[in-house]
Amino acid sequence: MYDKDHKIEFEKYAKSYDLHAIIQKKAAKELIEKIKFTPKKILDIGSGTGEVYKNISWNLDKFVGVDCSNSMCKLHPSGKEIKIICEDFNSLSFKKEIQHLSPFDLVISSSSLQWSKSLGENFKFYKSLGGKIAFAIFTDGTFKTIYEMTKRKSFLPDYRHLKNLSKIFDNAKVSKKIYKLDFKDNISKLRYINNSGIGGGNEILNYKKTKYLIKYYPYSYLEFEVTFILN
Ligand SMILES: C[S@@+](CC[C@H](N)C(=O)[O-])C[C@H]1O[C@@H](n2cnc3c(N)ncnc32)[C@H](O)[C@@H]1O
Repeated sequence: MYDKDHKIEFEKYAKSYDLHAIIQKKAAKELIEKIKFTPKKILDIGSGTGEVYKNISWNLDKFVGVDCSNSMCKLHPSGKEIKIICEDFNSLSFKKEIQHLSPFDLVISSSSLQWSKSLGENFKFYKSLGGKIAFAIFTDGTFKTIYEMTKRKSFLPDYRHLKNLSKIFDNAKVSKKIYKLDFKDNISKLRYINNSGIGGGNEILNYKKTKYLIKYYPYSYLEFEVTFILN
């Protein structure tokens, strides 16, 4: 689930991220729409170029974002109520810094927590920050057909495991949604996966498997599975 290569991937693709992140943008928008109160102090885990922040329509007292990619951090909107911490959200030093800034009304994360070193540990930490939670996490139904055809296992967490872990949060509602994105041909699909930030870092397909997919991938679309967790 967690590897160092994905950080390099995000550094490399920060500028083009906004063009390629079609599903991530939909997930962030839908995640915000599911929030039924107006939290004033928010912590955003894996804040990227600011997709969560940009979708918030109410006034905030404080918005703290964390992201380990310098290039992504630079592209996040700035403002007097915004603080972006450029660090690994799994690290102890980040968690210590955040404890000093707590409590938060809401800990939110869109399309980023699949990069957790330990989801269980991170969930425990987010619960300790005193507020509600709202997460959209890519799960292992993403690129399902590609994984089945190449007989590989996804690095993404599985829905049932996530549902189980979510029991730590009081009254958490867990649901999943499948998105489909159409492409003109199979080469474009593979290119998209490499630029999407959920392609699995360096876990790149070899030449033979790539050729096989280009020839035989049966659908006009790629599948994406996003699990939403809110309380
Ligand atoms: C797919 S993007 C999502 C960004 C944003 N939340 C959105 O909805 O567009 C994932 C982000 O998580 C960040 N990220 C991945 N692993 C991280 C880690 N261990 N610590 C901090 N940020 C991380 C990446 O740099 C990237 O900006």
